[in-house]
Amino acid sequence: MLDFEYHTPTHVVFGKHAVEKTGSLIQELGCKKVLIHYGGGSAKRSGLLDRVAQSLTSAGIDFITLGGVVPNPRLSLVREGIALCQREGVDFILAVGGGSVIDSSKAIGYGLTNEGDVWQYYAKKKTPTACAPVGAILTIAAAGSEMSNSSVITNEDGWLKRGLSSEYSRCKFAIMDPTLTYTLPAYQTASGAADIMMHTMERYFTAVDTPLELTDTLAEGLLRSVMQDVTTALQEPENYEARAGLMWASSLSHNGLMGCGTDGGDWACHQLEHELSGKYDVAHGAGLCAVWSSWARTVMPANPARFAKFAIRVMGVTPGADDIETANCGIDAMEVFFQSIGMPTRINQMGIALTEDDMRELAHKCSFMNTRTIGKFVPLDREAIYEVYKLARA
Ligand code: NZQ
Ligand code: ZN
Repeated sequence: MLDFEYHTPTHVVFGKHAVEKTGSLIQELGCKKVLIHYGGGSAKRSGLLDRVAQSLTSAGIDFITLGGVVPNPRLSLVREGIALCQREGVDFILAVGGGSVIDSSKAIGYGLTNEGDVWQYYAKKKTPTACAPVGAILTIAAAGSEMSNSSVITNEDGWLKRGLSSEYSRCKFAIMDPTLTYTLPAYQTASGAADIMMHTMERYFTAVDTPLELTDTLAEGLLRSVMQDVTTALQEPENYEARAGLMWASSLSHNGLMGCGTDGGDWACHQLEHELSGKYDVAHGAGLCAVWSSWARTVMPANPARFAKFAIRVMGVTPGADDIETANCGIDAMEVFFQSIGMPTRINQMGIALTEDDMRELAHKCSFMNTRTIGKFVPLDREAIYEVYKLARA
């Protein structure tokens, strides 16, 4: 096991009626003026925004609102939010929504506390030194942003989707009431579950060659549990235990726990996917499913034993003649599972017909204009990235 640091300072308030604690949580932090940031309307339609407003009012906290965050959140709204918060003297940003709203909130937080245009920090031209306090009321189990140290923003100028990770952006609190996710469309439930799984799988397929029994067992248990819970939630959208399992897994999968003692994980599939959702605006979890098996088949020969372990312990595969056969059965089984929850396993299944030029462009951007490789299990350069897109195309 490698040395590691594990720091998850987010105060989790989990369960029914957690929303009503929002006002007192912000009061305890000593903040006075809140921006309630939300998405395209689901939080309004469900009455959640009214409940949040009520809780803030009861605690004597002043607030303004800014809606309109779209999936794969845009830089232009972030800039609008920064200007609004500066004008209004906002000192706390409350994200009411999913990963997109939380990430947009974190970006506003960066913009309020760091000099110059906020995109410079996502473009890795500058390093942030602070972030204004952000809290989350989670409405979809997926990205894990409620406990992660990252945020991902899309710049419409060039449709570049870029992530920024720093400890400053961890949410001060995360309110998690599983009943808030009952209204999710099936596709978003499945896409979210796939993203949760991928946050653990990216860490599981590590290049570290030391026994990681505890971390592996936690990861395998989380994956099996999410597969069961998403299957139940799709059949019974108001099954509290299944929704609760997914919601808690969303956080545990991406708060660092699943990577303790590893090299931090591979993350190639996320890089491959961010180019897809940046350009084609697909749901992030679906995009991950569309590339995963092509990535897996590409890199598996580097360490078939690792994939065989996954096949047996997560997918319940019976060991074959050798690790390669077992590993391949595991990859096949994961494809069957993704299909069973309505997720794509090829890019064309998301309605995208990639041309040769498209794949070259995606690979060029994904390799940061041919200046980096992605992944650690097997580092992939621009040409190798192109080959994965090609395998995943149809
Ligand atoms: O905008 P509204 O109307 O709320 O609709 C949303 C949106 O259309 C809807 N939704 C959310 N909660 C709902 C609901 N609909 C009905 N009932 C509810 N309770 O779901 C749709 C998707 O929402 P979004 O926030 O985009 O989903 P998700 O949480 O999957 O976030 C995806 C974003 O997070 C980024 C992704 O790249 C993507 O941009 N990620 C962020 C990470 C992080 N910060 O740590 C890590 C991830 O790997 C990921 O990259
Ligand atoms: Zn993800």
